[in-house]
Amino acid sequence: MDLKAQAAIAALDYVQSGMTVGLGTGSTTSYFIDLLGEKLKRGELKDVRGVPTSESTASRARALKIPLVSLDEVPELDLAVDGADEVDPELNLIKGLGRALLREKIVESHARRFIVIVDESKLVPRLGTKGPLPVELVPFAANAQIRWLNTLGCRAELWLEVDGTPATTDNGNYLAKCWFEAGIEDVHQLAEKLVWRPGIVEHGLFLGMANLVIVAGKEGIRKLEALR
Ligand code: A5P
Repeated sequence: MDLKAQAAIAALDYVQSGMTVGLGTGSTTSYFIDLLGEKLKRGELKDVRGVPTSESTASRARALKIPLVSLDEVPELDLAVDGADEVDPELNLIKGLGRALLREKIVESHARRFIVIVDESKLVPRLGTKGPLPVELVPFAANAQIRWLNTLGCRAELWLEVDGTPATTDNGNYLAKCWFEAGIEDVHQLAEKLVWRPGIVEHGLFLGMANLVIVAGKEGIRKLEALR
């Protein structure tokens, strides 16, 4: 079985009837949403409601008849489950290569417990060594932001579709991809700089947010608990 599916199955053990669950975005979380839908259909779980982190997750959940609510209606979630692009030894994450980082960060910061599901290929010694850091920015003066991002020790580029038009998020914003040749030296310092920059909406560094990372590997499932 696909390792991503195995991680999703392990996360399902944490869902109980009556819970409100943040539903992440991406291929690993898709397995989780499908399995959750099946459990609800079979009556093995009852009264579970989902808070989606993207339009694609919302439509997948609706197709499976998973009841959805918004954060406006339910401000505190029992649990959120999502994938990640990279996980470092401190369980800091890079997320957003599925273009949903802003809503993911909003939803997941409202969860009492945030569980991350990954296959072992996502574990890295240092964030930014495997792929780019995605950054969401407003379309206004986007190239000025790209120039500024390039001063942060990375090669930044506007995320483009295959037809050359800028990729847009569910929020109508653009995205940048920031490539760090040897990984990100100081994730906290970088996050601080990005947070204060007008025009940058959000970045894909999820620092100190994950409570548990479920890693599926060839040797089986490993559970990494955050020491917080
Ligand atoms: C979505 O924006 C991302 O944060 C995903 O959670 C991340 O890209 C992992 O995706 P996969 O599960 O498809 O690898």
